[in-house]
Amino acid sequence: MNVLVFKNAEEATEKAYDIFKKSFENGLKTLGLATGSTPLTLYEKIRTSGWDVSHVTTVNLDEYVGLSPANPQSYNYYMQEELFKYMNFKSTNLPNGMAEDLQEECERYEQILKENPVDLQILGIGPNGHIGFNEPGTPFDSITHVVELAPSTREANKRFFDKEEEVPTKAITMGISSIMNAREIILLAFGPGKADAVRKMVEGPVTSDCPASVLQNHDHAWIILDEGSAGKLKR
Ligand code: F6R
Repeated sequence: MNVLVFKNAEEATEKAYDIFKKSFENGLKTLGLATGSTPLTLYEKIRTSGWDVSHVTTVNLDEYVGLSPANPQSYNYYMQEELFKYMNFKSTNLPNGMAEDLQEECERYEQILKENPVDLQILGIGPNGHIGFNEPGTPFDSITHVVELAPSTREANKRFFDKEEEVPTKAITMGISSIMNAREIILLAFGPGKADAVRKMVEGPVTSDCPASVLQNHDHAWIILDEGSAGKLKR
């Protein structure tokens, strides 16, 4: 794990964009994507780059169960709006949260990941240390699975919904082992609200109590922080 601290989110995003650009120039074929507030500026930079991405396949980390792609709160909708409608990706993939058989859907998605090994995975981190929707306690050897969202995650995400009751209770997420298979990883974290999770991820023990701490075991993981999220690091 390499930890880099920048003055603000803008400079941190600039660094993430540089790493992405190098990977793209070196022949990136599969790009792993996250949703949420953190990568929004990075996606803005990518969509205005004017690059030809017709050889690039994307795979997203997760999707809510029960939200269709037409629902503005679904991650599918977010990706269309932030990136996909502007770019000519070869193919784009998200778990189908509307699948009748969710277990079968997890298997289908894991197969997509096997066929398209991720060259570069973008990640955010939850205030409880989750990556994807792998909540504390998720085994490190987990693959794509259905999760019950932690109350703190539903609370953190309610800002995107009209009422808290509307936040889905379940999601499909890539597992921790699926994420760790990526050749290179960029995790972005901004603001003091992430400082506790960042301290546990970087300086705490590697434990499923803080799923992101597993990244200490990844040789090509870039942890890109602003001063706010790095505020509780000792080193
Ligand atoms: C999103 C995802 C989540 C978010 C995390 C941080 O696809 O998998 O792990 O990255 O919850 O969310 P933001 O960026 O909104 O703080």
